[in-house]
Amino acid sequence: MSSIVCYIAVSMDGFIATADGGVDWLNPFDDALAGFRDFDASIGASVMGRETYEFMRKHLPPAAPQDRRRTVVLTRRPLGDVPANTTAHAGDIPPLAAELKAAAAGRDVWLVGGGQAIRAFLDADAIDRWRLFVVPVMLGDGKRLLAPGQEGLRAFTLTNTHTFASGVVELVYDRRRA
Ligand SMILES: NC(=O)c1ccc[n+]([C@@H]2O[C@H](COP(=O)([O-])OP(=O)(O)OC[C@H]3O[C@@H](n4cnc5c(N)ncnc54)[C@H](OP(=O)(O)O)[C@@H]3O)[C@@H](O)[C@H]2O)c1
Repeated sequence: MSSIVCYIAVSMDGFIATADGGVDWLNPFDDALAGFRDFDASIGASVMGRETYEFMRKHLPPAAPQDRRRTVVLTRRPLGDVPANTTAHAGDIPPLAAELKAAAAGRDVWLVGGGQAIRAFLDADAIDRWRLFVVPVMLGDGKRLLAPGQEGLRAFTLTNTHTFASGVVELVYDRRRA
């Protein structure tokens, strides 16, 4: 059974990037990437917001592993020249979530971010698991883990934790459904 997993680094005060989109503040904490290769191997499809997609296109090499999988970019604007495995989506989230799980073919779906894309999936109650890497810094301002939106209680069960030497703590939460 495929899950939609939000695997993301967040500052102690709830930001995923500086106001200009920068993530250099994560560099001293790269020991927390130790499990990324295994996570990446467990992923069959990815979904992200337009801002995150543009950021990754600019900063990651074109042959990055996520480029080989089915990739959906949430955007209300045309994507332009993109690889064949990449499409834009601007409609409802539940059918997209089902389509991504099917495309993942037994693997999981990575909800990459950022805060607006996470908001859309949370509102649709489409996030099955969080892997939150809490980084021991306060950014003070920036891009939020969760963009503003409607209230809605979602309960999760803590299923694992891991503390890294750098002080990053990974918290794994699974959706608790009634
Ligand atoms: N710390 C980490 O591990 C981590 C991980 C991922 C990302 N990030 C950072 O997060 C930042 C981006 O976050 P963000 O919240 O500003 O942006 P985002 O969620 O990546 O992208 C926002 C854009 O996605 C589109 N969008 C969002 N929800 C949509 C919906 N329901 N339907 C259609 N389109 C939708 C819109 O694009 P249009 O305007 O084109 O319609 C919107 O402007 C980047 O700086 C990135 O570096 C950090």
